[in-house]
Amino acid sequence: MSSDSDRDKRGVSAVPPSPHINWRDNNVPESVLYGDIYYAPENGLAESQHVFLEGIGAPGIWTDRDHITIGETGFGTGLNFLATWHLWRKTAQKDSCLHYISTEKHPLHRTEITRALSPWQSLEDEIRTLLSHYPDNPLQELQGYQRFQFDEGRVTLTLCVGDCASQLSRLTSQTGCVDAWYLDGFSPAKNPDMWCDAVYQQLGRLSAPYARLATFTAAGHVRRGLTAAGFHMEKSPGYGRKRERLIGRYQPNVTSITDNINPADSNRRTTPIHAKRRYSHSEKPWFHLSSPLKSGARIAVIGAGIAGLTVAHRLKQQGFHPEVYDQHDHVMSTGSGNPAGMLDLYLTAGDSLGRKFGLRAYLYALRHYGQLAQHNKGEEIFRRCGLVKIPKDEKQADILGRVLQQNLLPPTHLQQANATHIQQAGGPETPPFDPVLYLPQAGMLFPHNIGALLSTDIPVKLKNRITMLQEMTLNSDCSDDVNLAGNNTDNENKQWQLIDDSGTVISCVDAVILTAGAEAIDLTQAEHLPVRISRGQICIIPASQSKPDQQHILSGKGYVLPPLNNNDRDMPYQVVGATYDKLPDHPRPLPTEVTKTGQTDIASRLRNIAPHIHFPPSPSAVDKETAGATIAGRTSVRAYLPDHMPICGPLPIKAAYQQAYAALIDGKKGPVYPSAPYYKGLYVMAGLSARGLTTAPLLAEILTSLIFGTPPPVEDDIVQALHPARFLIRDIRRGR
Ligand SMILES: Cc1cc2nc3c(=O)[nH]c(=O)nc-3n(C[C@H](O)[C@H](O)[C@H](O)COP(=O)(O)OP(=O)(O)OC[C@H]3O[C@@H](n4cnc5c(N)ncnc54)[C@H](O)[C@@H]3O)c2cc1C
Ligand SMILES: C[S@@+](CC[C@H](N)C(=O)[O-])C[C@H]1O[C@@H](n2cnc3c(N)ncnc32)[C@H](O)[C@@H]1O
Repeated sequence: MSSDSDRDKRGVSAVPPSPHINWRDNNVPESVLYGDIYYAPENGLAESQHVFLEGIGAPGIWTDRDHITIGETGFGTGLNFLATWHLWRKTAQKDSCLHYISTEKHPLHRTEITRALSPWQSLEDEIRTLLSHYPDNPLQELQGYQRFQFDEGRVTLTLCVGDCASQLSRLTSQTGCVDAWYLDGFSPAKNPDMWCDAVYQQLGRLSAPYARLATFTAAGHVRRGLTAAGFHMEKSPGYGRKRERLIGRYQPNVTSITDNINPADSNRRTTPIHAKRRYSHSEKPWFHLSSPLKSGARIAVIGAGIAGLTVAHRLKQQGFHPEVYDQHDHVMSTGSGNPAGMLDLYLTAGDSLGRKFGLRAYLYALRHYGQLAQHNKGEEIFRRCGLVKIPKDEKQADILGRVLQQNLLPPTHLQQANATHIQQAGGPETPPFDPVLYLPQAGMLFPHNIGALLSTDIPVKLKNRITMLQEMTLNSDCSDDVNLAGNNTDNENKQWQLIDDSGTVISCVDAVILTAGAEAIDLTQAEHLPVRISRGQICIIPASQSKPDQQHILSGKGYVLPPLNNNDRDMPYQVVGATYDKLPDHPRPLPTEVTKTGQTDIASRLRNIAPHIHFPPSPSAVDKETAGATIAGRTSVRAYLPDHMPICGPLPIKAAYQQAYAALIDGKKGPVYPSAPYYKGLYVMAGLSARGLTTAPLLAEILTSLIFGTPPPVEDDIVQALHPARFLIRDIRRGR
């Protein structure tokens, strides 16, 4: 039998064990694995309200806050979450946000949750909404961190599937992001893994100053363990047959508690409890986060492609009022501007971080676009038409074969394609390589409709090219005040001026998010990022020249999307693609010419999967954007990084990094280091490469959580794999 850590290390392919539920009287679920019940048989909801909600001081704890983060050990049936959400809906400020993060080693099946929660009609709406997002096959589909959003993005649930201590240890947080904890394992005697020092240490690490804690147990060793981890604990009356329970606060440097200590409850993020310190090599301070932005901060987003608009939309959902700038006269004009693209699962070999990120991004995008489509009454956003994936060569055939064997996802998401799937995708009777996969949930995205929807109610300032970002100190002359030792990051009085190509200051903001695609590196602060570009062309053919009854996407070395009948063209058409030409330099302006060579390239990519498609396509299909040209299509660029992962996070100051971490030269482990020197209030999300439509939603969620100090939707290793400083550190290590 494998240990928890073995299983967790395998990450994406681990399937957690089933909890084996036995139903006691009154529908009370009991775990056969642990020999204990999920909640008090008298009334689980009343227990949850008394022990946990009252235990942390809800609703008073959140009524004057614009966001609150509650952590839980043991999600179980979700009852504590639902009770919290229900009360929060009734009592929280308008426009405030609830983040709920919970660990669970044995996710229950949807039918088990439905049955367990059936007694509580008062939670009916929350239960229905949770279940509508909860996967059909949680044991296969829920692995590692999974994020769900409700109430137009104001309520965020992060379910961390796996062992509690191990999952919490993967949560990125430098300043402590959790405001209150519910400790809800099975009884300490039956479930010792949830009541041990490894868990308590993580609770302390992740706690905001004065974070509250509540649990049903009053066990002496739990109290002592939590006290040792920095919590001030006391006993209080329990629920039902339990005489006592524990409540507490995180106060690591305080030996006695007074009831009126509450200085940091409402503004904790500006009141760090730990003094500034130096870090050891194992703490990887170069990846530490910058201080969170204050609520009410003015934020500018540069670039109105999928990255910029998705981030801006998410900021808006969280109560901010971002302004977006783009040099062109319409949104989604550059890399993101194809008439349609694929929401597809990118599969790499092995259990790499790339695969883990790709899988998380895919599942998150399915939920994200599904929700957008559900709330959108206008143009089509996402068509869940299914995708047939034919290996492009032997190497990919091997990868897809292994993916099938590993049961990476349940058949509702991933299965071996049969002849009908391939035929309905317009594919060949005899595919060139095996196995062919069928992804029933994948589909087509419509970037222009998505752009219009995301930018609703957001000021998008078009025809504004930002050529310079200038940091200024308030109440003093404008100057570039970056301190090369990186010590300026806590100075609260910095702002950024946005300067356009005429040299005019067009805005002054607290923070800037750079989502400028291939052109992000044109701004001085980002010029050290090793962004590379590839040219990509698609062709547009009349559906009559292909298979007009094609239902699924056909994907291989090239791809063919099912027919579209959009208003912007006279006849049904199909998008086929795409070329991928690495460009050795950084041409400006970026290439947009649709070429015959590109068309020939696409034709050769499709030859063995869609030989029925005839090139050149009929001139009647000429795209409006290329009117006058003889080839119907579109060309733009993809920005990518040498390791093919995007960049997402705070923007490092190159010279300060080289100075701060010089001791790492030639792979050495230096003694101690300062924290990471960033440009205060400057963030970047770029290099989305060939999958930006698919990955932008998860990246935007990661970025906004890093900016505001809320729990990220992915584990620490993924946050670090996306960190913009990874190339600087690599170069310092290599002595470059
Ligand atoms: C041919 C092709 C096919 C693709 N197919 C798919 C697919 O099927 N599925 C998928 O998931 N992905 C696909 N992609 C990838 C995806 O389109 C990109 O990853 C994504 O569009 C990148 O989005 P972005 O917002 O980072 O960049 P962009 O869309 O390029 O947006 C950057 C924006 O920043 C603006 N900007 C730049 N500099 C400045 C400045 N200084 N001031 C003001 N504005 C500025 C630009 O005008 C632009 O609007 C495809 C890409 C190509 C090229
Ligand atoms: C008492 S139940 C939780 C009840 C839950 N809070 C609710 O509202 O229904 C304890 C939960 O802890 C989970 N669990 C047990 N051991 C765990 C571990 N090591 N890490 C994470 N979760 C664990 C169990 O599967 C179970 O769902």
